[in-house]
Amino acid sequence: MLLPTFVILSVLSGVGLCKLYEDVADLPGLHYDFVIVGGGTAGNVVANRLSENPHVSVLVLEAGPSNDGVLDSEVPFLLTEMFTNPTYSWNYTTTPMPGLNGRSVSYSRAFILGGCSAHNGMVYTRGAAEDFDRYAELSADAGWSWNQLFPYFLKNEKWTAPADHHDTRGQFNPHVHGTNGPIFVSLNGFSLPTFEQKVIETTKELPHDFPFNLDPNSGKPLGVSWAQSTIGGGERSTSATGYLAPKFIQRPNLHVLLHAQVSKLVNVTRKKGRPGFGGVEFRYGESLFVAHAAKEIVLSGGAIGSPQILMNSGIGAHAILSALGITTVLDLPSVGQNASDQPFMTTQWAVNSTETFDSIRQNATRFAEGMAQWNASRTGPFVDSGIMTHLGWFRLARDSPAFSVHPDPSSGPDAPHLEFSFIPGGATPGNSMSIGIAVVSPVSRGSVVINSSDPFAPPLIDPGYFSNEWDFLAMRDGISLAERFTSAPTWSGYVGAMTPNLANLSSADLETAIRNATVSNLHMVGTAGMSPCGARYGVVDPDLQVKGAVGLSVIDASVVPIVPAAHTQAVTYAFAERGADLLKQRWGL
Ligand SMILES: Cc1cc2nc3c(=O)[nH]c(=O)nc-3n(C[C@H](O)[C@H](O)[C@H](O)COP(=O)(O)OP(=O)(O)OC[C@H]3O[C@@H](n4cnc5c(N)ncnc54)[C@H](O)[C@@H]3O)c2cc1C
Ligand SMILES: *[C@@H]1O[C@H](CO)[C@@H](O)[C@H](O)[C@H]1NC(C)=O
Ligand SMILES: *[C@@H]1O[C@H](CO)[C@@H](O)[C@H](O)[C@H]1NC(C)=O
Ligand SMILES: *[C@@H]1O[C@H](CO)[C@@H](O)[C@H](O)[C@H]1NC(C)=O
Ligand SMILES: *[C@@H]1O[C@H](CO)[C@@H](O)[C@H](O)[C@H]1NC(C)=O
Ligand SMILES: *[C@@H]1O[C@H](CO)[C@@H](O)[C@H](O)[C@H]1NC(C)=O
Ligand SMILES: *[C@@H]1O[C@H](CO)[C@@H](O)[C@H](O)[C@H]1NC(C)=O
Ligand SMILES: *[C@@H]1O[C@H](CO)[C@@H](O)[C@H](O)[C@H]1NC(C)=O
Ligand SMILES: *[C@@H]1O[C@H](CO)[C@@H](O)[C@H](O)[C@H]1NC(C)=O
Ligand SMILES: *[C@@H]1O[C@H](CO)[C@@H](O)[C@H](O)[C@H]1NC(C)=O
Repeated sequence: MLLPTFVILSVLSGVGLCKLYEDVADLPGLHYDFVIVGGGTAGNVVANRLSENPHVSVLVLEAGPSNDGVLDSEVPFLLTEMFTNPTYSWNYTTTPMPGLNGRSVSYSRAFILGGCSAHNGMVYTRGAAEDFDRYAELSADAGWSWNQLFPYFLKNEKWTAPADHHDTRGQFNPHVHGTNGPIFVSLNGFSLPTFEQKVIETTKELPHDFPFNLDPNSGKPLGVSWAQSTIGGGERSTSATGYLAPKFIQRPNLHVLLHAQVSKLVNVTRKKGRPGFGGVEFRYGESLFVAHAAKEIVLSGGAIGSPQILMNSGIGAHAILSALGITTVLDLPSVGQNASDQPFMTTQWAVNSTETFDSIRQNATRFAEGMAQWNASRTGPFVDSGIMTHLGWFRLARDSPAFSVHPDPSSGPDAPHLEFSFIPGGATPGNSMSIGIAVVSPVSRGSVVINSSDPFAPPLIDPGYFSNEWDFLAMRDGISLAERFTSAPTWSGYVGAMTPNLANLSSADLETAIRNATVSNLHMVGTAGMSPCGARYGVVDPDLQVKGAVGLSVIDASVVPIVPAAHTQAVTYAFAERGADLLKQRWGL
């Protein structure tokens, strides 16, 4: 009965015998030991690790389509084409935010196997050791500390030579990287030497403000470092290309169903008063189906999807659920609350150079040449994301006005408040350079709350940017710091006008400009946050099981209680690796 499916799919996908199901009718059944909701960044890690044991059966339900053959996802330089393509997006917009002058902003989430790892910026950053030590404290579980989580970062990672095989000595520290994991990480493989040299020169001319740091992923990120990305051999590396690679997806006990959007958990049972769920309801085409998990249901729908499914299932704040006519199965007020995310804006200057990404993006001939070169040899400008050559991580000055409105929200003295991405390119015609500024230790918290009893209606997403003034003041300091960076002597004759010019604005005009221009860094965590066992708040225990439920856990970015001072995919991978280990221990696998 299975054979025809395998034959058809293997012909289509060209990856041999494969258990990637395009049609629910081809699934051999709907009874599994584990059902994982969401084949995203975290979900595929869990699916891979659980199915290492041939005696358990695993089903992944993914709402989106396959990543296979999606060129915009494979080619690093096409990332903007990828993440603005609605076919692979949940098409979310935030609620209007008072901190952004009442603006709503786009809130991109990937709708494709691999999840956000298949459409993100590929930036590979782990955060500060102190971020993880704070997670250990907030969860009362030393297993989430930097030292204990560190092996899981390595387990995820395969450090790889850049596409141009340049000499990488002095550009990273090999001792802090893994070499055997499923996810490729590398330095950029196409050089823009003038810009790169000026960034490094700035670390020498202004070492107090902008010191060089050999490797930002050592746990001590402060300073300016060469960028690292989840790219190998010139191709994007994702949880789908890595954790569901042909040798894994061929396991007979691992099935992945695409185009299956989960609505809610059903078939409630009670054990000693604690609810459990026998089934996961999902929509395929126009019909609803139920998949059953004999052992455990794992929600890996991400920081938006997972709290939404919990609330759809009657797990959440009773007041919110009852207002929508949903019966409360488990009153857990923290579901969807405590969303923690980073506001982001870019500053831009005209440059006296054509050695920029603009000269490729704005010239159809060069763009086509770049694409053809990538296609022929996986070399040239298209092997990189084109969104940075270096990253910088900085703290606000001790006397910053921000500290008069709120105490230091960072996790410790070695953790940054601000991230700069240094970009030899801009967003307007002509040649530019840009510095992207993110407030990476925000105070503000937001929420993700369902808006309807229709489980397929989009939730209300409120990242709460600048709802605490500290975050706004930090962004304002960031702009001054970016101006200081470009004032280093090395940039003279190269950097021209700031566009738009934020220097010398009145304080009121600068404030309006910031609130008008800030968008999302798309790093939401915390909407199913972990807290100590027995805590009166939080959604999951430190073992990632939903508080008060049985046979239900959440493993994805939503369990991370506060956003790390970093981009969030590496953290998500490490949490998923440990989460999978905790599951295996629980079930003796
Ligand atoms: C545009 C963009 C750029 C980013 N850039 C970077 C970067 O450069 N570096 C970095 O480290 N981080 C980056 N991030 C953040 C990072 O990618 C995410 O934090 C991380 O990948 C989240 O992983 P996750 O497993 O929690 O969720 P996801 O990867 O989003 O996985 C969730 C999966 O569940 C599926 N799903 C959701 N709801 C349902 C449902 N009801 N039924 C079935 N399936 C469902 C989704 O389709 C998705 O595949 C970026 C994010 C975005 C959106
Ligand atoms: C987002 O919009 C596009 C185009 O309208 C559509 O193809 C896609 O399915 C939408 N995504 C979701 C999750 O509905
Ligand atoms: C599980 O729920 C579905 C729909 O919600 C229902 O059709 C089915 O009978 C239930 N199964 C069991 C075993 O309760
Ligand atoms: C949010 O998290 C903090 C700990 O970081 C906790 O004290 C608070 O109760 C949480 N709030 C909600 C609504 O869960
Ligand atoms: C576009 O690139 C081509 C090929 O490098 C070059 O010949 C041409 O002059 C460029 N056009 C512009 C407007 O810069
Ligand atoms: C890549 O090269 C192959 C073989 O020459 C060709 O068939 C294909 O169209 C090319 N694809 C792109 C996107 O250039
Ligand atoms: C929320 O629900 C209300 C009432 O149904 C609807 O008018 C509104 O458009 C919804 N908001 C979003 C963002 O979907
Ligand atoms: C641009 O650079 C060239 C040489 O690199 C230099 O001669 C010229 O003065 C610069 N122009 C400006 C406006 O700085
Ligand atoms: C800001 O004003 C000072 C003093 O007038 C001037 O030297 C500087 O060039 C201005 N900066 C910008 C970017 O306009
Ligand atoms: C900010 O946005 C408002 C509303 O769109 C606009 O009227 C105003 O000119 C903008 N101001 C600045 C400084 O960007």
